[in-house]
Amino acid sequence: MNDSADRRILKEEVDDFGNQLETWRLRMETALAARLPRSDVVPARLHEAMRYSVLGGGKRIRPALVFATARAVGLSEDDVEAAACAIELVHVYSLVHDDLPAMDNDDLRRGRPTCHKAYDEATALLVGDALQPLAFQLLASDPKLPASPAIRLRLIDMLAQASGTLGMAGGQAIDLAVQGRRLDITQVEDMHARKTGAVIRASVLMAAECAPPLDPSLYGALSRFANAVGLAFQIQDDLLDVTGNASMLGKATGADSERAKPTHPAVIGIPASQQRVRLLHNQAIHSLAPFGERAEALRSLAHWLLSRQY
Ligand code: IPE
Ligand code: IPE
Ligand code: MG
Ligand code: MG
Ligand code: MG
Repeated sequence: MNDSADRRILKEEVDDFGNQLETWRLRMETALAARLPRSDVVPARLHEAMRYSVLGGGKRIRPALVFATARAVGLSEDDVEAAACAIELVHVYSLVHDDLPAMDNDDLRRGRPTCHKAYDEATALLVGDALQPLAFQLLASDPKLPASPAIRLRLIDMLAQASGTLGMAGGQAIDLAVQGRRLDITQVEDMHARKTGAVIRASVLMAAECAPPLDPSLYGALSRFANAVGLAFQIQDDLLDVTGNASMLGKATGADSERAKPTHPAVIGIPASQQRVRLLHNQAIHSLAPFGERAEALRSLAHWLLSRQY
């Protein structure tokens, strides 16, 4: 098949998958709304700010990874919905704190004022403080998660590791510490793997953890897939900061160079960064081979991510 036919088929697949993503996004809106505290319950302003930050925006890519992995391992969306909510809550908490003046100091998120702009800084701190334990509470006791106590404990451990000092929080600390510094590309990738890759990896592996134990080769396949997709995701985020459209992204562009962040485009340039994303995409797709047809949703999601503009 020639290149343009290849691209057309890929585009058709990506467009089709857009409908699936939209269905999962709507499902998450309801699932999250039901699990967040009501905004008429004291402390009402904090609850309102939590709902403002979590609901009504975001691509919900991590939940989509949870649902697509569930399909690959023979589970339903219902089986993993609470885990998807827990991961999204941690993700939103990381965004609310990431936007604070003490961190990236951003005013726009998901097309709306950031939490500290719509409310105030103390409230934004508390939103993060409150979303994080809510996430772990869901893993411990959400009735929809059919997982045994042993599985629940493993899920808690996985999300804690992914968001702790060896994962997101540690990666964010490095991100702030290296502003204005020169890093080599290996150091940049290590930072990305922690600050963004770890939670994306957890989205895939936590869904797998909800299923009966997988054959180690299948687990290894998912693990390689998740690593590649997680790293590619932050490289694309950094590329979109340079090449993207702010109104489509719903957040400012040019923010990384303004803060002298050592990103992929800053360190190796735009074409080499795009090439790296394509290579990681190929690795991700290749990793899924042992799953055959069962990984169709994961494959489509990877294709969708490759061509994302927001
Ligand atoms: C943005 O994540 C922050 C990163 C980890 C790169 P997303 O691009 O998934 O943001 P939302 O959830 O769609 O707003
Ligand atoms: C944030 O990376 C990663 C997180 C863990 C939140 P960025 O700082 O590049 O994310 P954006 O561009 O503000 O969404
Ligand atoms: Mg940041
Ligand atoms: Mg930021
Ligand atoms: Mg960014």
